[in-house]
Amino acid sequence: MNRICAALDLPDPRSAAELAAKLVGHVGVFKIGLELFVAHGPAAVEPIRKLGLPIFLDLKLHDIPQTVESAARGVAKLGVQYLTVHASGGAEMIRAARRALPQTRLLAVTVLTSLGEDEQRELGIPPDAVLRLARLAVAAGADGIVCAPTEVAALRAALGPAPLIVVPGVRPAGSAKGDQRRTGTPRQAIDAGASMLVVGRPLRDAPDPAAAADSIAAELR
Ligand code: C5P
Repeated sequence: MNRICAALDLPDPRSAAELAAKLVGHVGVFKIGLELFVAHGPAAVEPIRKLGLPIFLDLKLHDIPQTVESAARGVAKLGVQYLTVHASGGAEMIRAARRALPQTRLLAVTVLTSLGEDEQRELGIPPDAVLRLARLAVAAGADGIVCAPTEVAALRAALGPAPLIVVPGVRPAGSAKGDQRRTGTPRQAIDAGASMLVVGRPLRDAPDPAAAADSIAAELR
């Protein structure tokens, strides 16, 4: 099974579909994020779905339970395989999303990988937030959680083998970090127990995205 999820972070469905087409056979999942979905809505999903791989809709929903449940009912019509919500929306919000989407893998984002220690302190996010949010999300019915490479080992130990642990902020050795703060290599994340790696810019910005995906896959074998 290919555990690489390619983030198609591009401004329009056509360029996203072009990148995705290059990656068929080299990654396992395609992720559509806010940039594409806010601008183009369900029309962004259709050309990617035609390529036949599971789709991860990364909307990071975070609102009152009623609003999230209604939004999640809209997502149910899109036929995607994964959806993200923010765990910090609370257990009732996660249960509401779960009710609306019984068939979709629901993933709860713990603490964004772009937040370093100083920013977390500034926001009043306590050091054990990732663990607390992960436990809460799984208890409320999420299929898995999203965390940084550096947190995978502790979460796998705490949550056991069943929940999906999805890891962005993954950087092959030598890749630029960009705005990500809590990063790690693909190998570190998988060895620690990650189920899926979300990789965006290291694939999107590579001269040959398929070759870049293959080299990550080779690192994982
Ligand atoms: O380009 P890069 O590899 O940093 O892309 C990571 C992708 O994962 C982006 O699409 C980003 O929105 C998403 N993501 C993240 N951190 C989270 C959840 C999702 O970076 N906690």
